[in-house]
Amino acid sequence: MVVFNPIRILVVDDEESIRRLMEKELNSMRRNVCSADSARHALELIERQQFDVIVLDIRLPDGDGIDLLEKFKQAIPDVEVILITGYGNVENAVEAMKLGAYDYITKPFTLDRVELVVEKAYQRVCLQRQNRLLRHTQTYHPLPQFVGRSSGVEHIQYLIEKVAPTNVPVLITGESGAGKDVIASAIHYRSQRAEQPLIIKNCGTLQKELMRSELFGYCKGAFTGANETNDGLITLAHEGTLFLDEIGELPLEVQAALLRVLETQTYRRIGDKYERQVDVRFLFATNRNLVEEARIGNFHEALYHRLNVFQINIPPLRERKEDIPLLVEYFLGLLGSGACPCRVSKSVMQCLMNYAWPGNVRELRNVIERGIILAENGIISESALPRELTQQSDSATTDVPLIPLTELEKRHIRRVMEWVDGNRSQAAGILGIGRKTLYRKLKEYELA
Ligand SMILES: Nc1ncnc2c1ncn2[C@@H]1O[C@H](COP(=O)(O)OP(=O)(O)OP(=O)(O)O)[C@@H](O)[C@H]1O
Ligand SMILES: [Mg+2]
Repeated sequence: MVVFNPIRILVVDDEESIRRLMEKELNSMRRNVCSADSARHALELIERQQFDVIVLDIRLPDGDGIDLLEKFKQAIPDVEVILITGYGNVENAVEAMKLGAYDYITKPFTLDRVELVVEKAYQRVCLQRQNRLLRHTQTYHPLPQFVGRSSGVEHIQYLIEKVAPTNVPVLITGESGAGKDVIASAIHYRSQRAEQPLIIKNCGTLQKELMRSELFGYCKGAFTGANETNDGLITLAHEGTLFLDEIGELPLEVQAALLRVLETQTYRRIGDKYERQVDVRFLFATNRNLVEEARIGNFHEALYHRLNVFQINIPPLRERKEDIPLLVEYFLGLLGSGACPCRVSKSVMQCLMNYAWPGNVRELRNVIERGIILAENGIISESALPRELTQQSDSATTDVPLIPLTELEKRHIRRVMEWVDGNRSQAAGILGIGRKTLYRKLKEYELA
């Protein structure tokens, strides 16, 4: 389902007839019009409410429209301003466009003209927003599959179906590469927010000092270098989902601010006087033990309890080896050429089943990707596997040293003698032979 948000329009004009006309005629299912009769009133409104397009009279009793235009542009990151100007003021309007106004309308105007300019301005607002979102969102298959058939995975699939349609925050835990990102996107794309942005941020990649501003945004002048007002990820994820990975990396004070967002659905930009409403579904992931982190004071305890309302824990791959054949098949289909997919030989499947997968599913995926490149005649054989996978099974199943028994005996006696530092009585005891026999063998094998 595609949800269209109404265009939020602010009309700033001291002429009551114009305000009334716009409120009456522009307001519709698609447009939400609000008005202000002075510069002061307009500034008050934008501090509390979000707008997409502002229609601004260039002359106001308590201020100059051009000054106001600059203030709007500074305070609201993606807003387009359309000026209304009298005949004699066109030059001012042109000047204003150089300062960032989208267009101007001269009085007297028709409503059709206003509608047209507002719609075009809104398209630009959407484009700018989308560009910004694209820098944060990732492209995923619309319905990411959490593949597996072990009881652990079946339970996870059940939890995803249950929790996805709600707004409850979810904490996803599991070792690196186990599939936390897959679960987060599976939840998002099965929720009613699927058409809205899924923003993913790895808190471990953010500099500590920047985390707060990245999440909450900031107002112009809030700190050195804050040259303009900027939205944070929480604002960008409005009506969508914000997935914060490695949540354990957030500094404690940012954790406290985040807890407030979870509890009240309001947030405050750095340097802002006002709290703003926001509608975001939060997903979190960590491969740290948050209980332990909370115990030693590294993690906000109340936030942990808020996150822990719904937890999905992914067992490591080594504990659900029955998922391996299905995952192998899935990756062969996903990564191979569609027409004639590769397959793995029996002994390769044995190696895959014997291996401990410290890098979990990610490592398995990489192994299959490499295997597909090295496959001969569509078959991935042992020579296409990384060494660590084949070595394991060599020693477990196929390591038969092809040497004579006497050579094996000689090597074994040498190793035992080294181990006991040349103590012959001890060596004879370990080898289970008499001392005399040992002397004889040492001589025979020239080990004495
Ligand atoms: N059950 C699964 N079904 C399909 N693909 C999976 C599954 N689990 C993991 N993957 C794949 O394995 C890779 C690693 O998964 P993912 O990025 O979700 O791991 P992670 O737990 O988030 O790791 P990290 O802690 O390093 O961020 C991805 O390519 C993902 O598509
Ligand atoms: Mg991840």
